[in-house]
Amino acid sequence: MRLTLLSLLFAVSAALASAPSRTVVERASCTLAPLGSGKDDSPQFLTAMQACSTVVIPTTSTLNISTRLNMTGLSNKHLNLQGTLRFNPNIPYWTANGFPFTFQTQITFWILGGTNIVVDGGGTLDGAGQAWYDAFASNSSLLRPITFTLFQATNVLVQNIKMINSPEWFNLVNEGKNVTFNNITLNAASTSSHGAANTDGWDIYRSDTVVISNSVINNGDDCVSFKPNSTNILVSNLNCTGSHGISVGSLGQFAGMFDIVENVTAINIRMSNAQNGARIKAWAGSGVGSGIVKNVTFMNFIESKVDNPVVIDQCYMTSASACAQFPSNTFIQDVFFTTISGTSTGSTVASLACSPGARCSNITVNNFTLSPPSGTAKYTCQNVNLTGNAASLFGTCTVT
Ligand SMILES: *[C@@H]1O[C@H](CO)[C@@H](O)[C@H](O)[C@H]1NC(C)=O
Ligand SMILES: *[C@@H]1O[C@H](CO)[C@@H](O)[C@H](O)[C@H]1NC(C)=O
Ligand SMILES: *[C@@H]1O[C@H](CO)[C@@H](O)[C@H](O)[C@H]1NC(C)=O
Ligand SMILES: *[C@@H]1O[C@H](CO)[C@@H](O)[C@H](O)[C@H]1NC(C)=O
Ligand SMILES: *[C@@H]1O[C@H](CO)[C@@H](O)[C@H](O)[C@H]1NC(C)=O
Ligand SMILES: *[C@@H]1O[C@H](CO)[C@@H](O)[C@H](O)[C@H]1NC(C)=O
Ligand SMILES: *[C@@H]1O[C@H](CO)[C@@H](O)[C@H](O)[C@H]1NC(C)=O
Ligand SMILES: *[C@@H]1O[C@H](CO)[C@@H](O)[C@H](O)[C@H]1NC(C)=O
Ligand SMILES: *[C@@H]1O[C@H](CO)[C@@H](O)[C@H](O)[C@H]1NC(C)=O
Ligand SMILES: *[C@@H]1O[C@H](CO)[C@@H](O)[C@H](O)[C@H]1NC(C)=O
Ligand SMILES: *[C@@H]1O[C@H](CO)[C@@H](O)[C@H](O)[C@H]1NC(C)=O
Ligand SMILES: *[C@@H]1O[C@H](CO)[C@@H](O)[C@H](O)[C@H]1NC(C)=O
Repeated sequence: MRLTLLSLLFAVSAALASAPSRTVVERASCTLAPLGSGKDDSPQFLTAMQACSTVVIPTTSTLNISTRLNMTGLSNKHLNLQGTLRFNPNIPYWTANGFPFTFQTQITFWILGGTNIVVDGGGTLDGAGQAWYDAFASNSSLLRPITFTLFQATNVLVQNIKMINSPEWFNLVNEGKNVTFNNITLNAASTSSHGAANTDGWDIYRSDTVVISNSVINNGDDCVSFKPNSTNILVSNLNCTGSHGISVGSLGQFAGMFDIVENVTAINIRMSNAQNGARIKAWAGSGVGSGIVKNVTFMNFIESKVDNPVVIDQCYMTSASACAQFPSNTFIQDVFFTTISGTSTGSTVASLACSPGARCSNITVNNFTLSPPSGTAKYTCQNVNLTGNAASLFGTCTVT
C-alpha cells in the first residue's frame, strides 16, 4: 500500500519534471501514510499537495513534518486532514530554516497560499510546543515558529480541525482575502513550569475579509489580534480561556508605517481567566508610526475573571510624559463597546485611555454590566468624550 502510493507519487513527480505543466493530469485524490522509521514526511506531503486535488491524511496517520513546507501558489486544493501533522521540534533546524517574516521578526513552519483551498477533516496540527516553551525560558530571543500561515491566500476555508501546542502564534493570515476559519479547537498547554508564551490564536496582517467563528481557544496570548491592515473582519462565537483578549493592535509601532484596522466586528465572545477582554492598543511617543482604527464593534462579551475587561490604551508602551509630548498618531474613531457583562479580577472594570490631543472620537459604550470581585467597580477614561448609556458610569474623563 505504502509502496504503491510512493511509486505513484514518484511517477507524478517525474511527470512534473519532464512535461510541460499543462499536460500533467492532476490526480483526484491521494492518501498519505507516514514513512515511519524516523523519516521526514514533508517531501511526500509537498509532492502530494502539488500533484493531487485532494490530499487525505487518514485518522491513523501522524505525519512527521521535519522540514519547512512551502505550499504557495496552489489552486483548487482540498486537504482532508483526519489524522495529525506533527512538527518535529528540531530547534536548531527551524530557527535557521523557518520562513521568516520581517513583521515583528517571526518565523513559520508552513506557508500555504493560492486560491480556493479547503482544509478540514477533524484532524490535528500538533506544534509540539513543549520543547519550545522550555527552550524559550532560557533564551528569550529564541525564534519560535508560527504553526500555520496563510500566505497570499484567497478564498480559503479552514474548518473542523484542532491545533495544539503551537511554539508561537497558532495562525497568521498574511496578505489574505476571503479567508474563513470555522469550528477550530486551539489548545496550548505546557506540562512544565514554563508557560506557553506568545501562543496567539490568530493574527491577521495585511488581509481583507476574514471570518473566524464557532471556535474554542485555550492559549497564552491574544485570542485574536488584528495587526496592521486588517479590514472587514468578523469574529463570532468564540470561547477564549487564558488569553490576552480580542485585540486591535498593537498599531503604530514602526516609524514610517501607516496601519489601518477598519470594519471589524467581534460578537458573542466568552472570555475567561484572561488578561484582557475587548482591547485596542496603539503606540505613542517619538519615532513611532501612525494609522487609523475605524468602525470597530465589540458586542455581546461575557467575561469571567478578566483583569481588564474593556481597554483602550493609546499610550501603549509609552510613558505618560512621552505620550503628552508626542500623542499617538494612530487615530481611533467609530468604536462601539456594546453589551459587555461579567467579572473582572481587580477593581477597574473598564479603562479607556486615549492619547492627548483628541485622538479618539465617536467612542460609544452601551449596556455594561461588569462587576469586580468586591467593592465598587471603577471605570476610568482619559482624553475622550464618550457616548452611549454606559457613558455615565465613567463620569467626566480626565484630560491630560
Ligand atoms: C522525524 O523525522 C526526523 C528527521 O528524519 C527524525 O529525526 C525524527 O526522529 C522523526 N520523528 C519521528 C517521531 O519519527
Ligand atoms: C516558495 O516556493 C515558490 C515556488 O517555488 C517560490 O517562488 C517562493 O520564493 C518560495 N517562498 C519562500 C518563502 O521560500
Ligand atoms: C537564542 O535564540 C536566538 C534566535 O533563535 C539564537 O540566535 C541564539 O543563538 C540562541 N541563544 C542560545 C544561547 O542558544
Ligand atoms: C470566498 O471563499 C469561499 C470559500 O471559503 C467561496 O465559497 C466564496 O465564493 C468566496 N467568495 C468570493 C466573493 O469569492
Ligand atoms: C467540529 O470539528 C470537530 C473536529 O475537530 C468535529 O468532530 C465536529 O463534528 C465539528 N462540529 C461541527 C458542528 O461540524
Ligand atoms: C461556549 O460556551 C458556551 C457556554 O458553555 C456554550 O453554550 C457554547 O456552545 C460554547 N461555544 C463554542 C463555540 O463552543
Ligand atoms: C496599509 O494600507 C495602506 C493603504 O493601502 C498603505 O499605505 C500602508 O502602507 C499599509 N500599511 C501596512 C503596514 O502594510
Ligand atoms: C468599510 O465598510 C464600508 C461599508 O461597507 C465600505 O464602504 C468601506 O470601503 C470599508 N472599508 C474598507 C477599508 O474596506
Ligand atoms: C462597519 O463594519 C461592519 C463590518 O464589521 C460593516 O458591516 C459596516 O457596514 C461598517 N460600517 C460602516 C459605516 O462602514
Ligand atoms: C460613529 O460611527 C458610526 C459607525 O461607523 C457611524 O455610522 C456614525 O455616523 C459615527 N458618528 C459620528 C458622530 O461620527
Ligand atoms: C441595551 O439593552 C437593552 C435591554 O436589553 C436593549 O433594548 C438595547 O437595544 C441595548 N442597547 C444596545 C445599543 O444594544
Ligand atoms: C470633548 O468635547 C468638548 C466639547 O465639545 C471639546 O471641547 C473637547 O475637545 C472634546 N474632547 C475630546 C477629547 O474630543
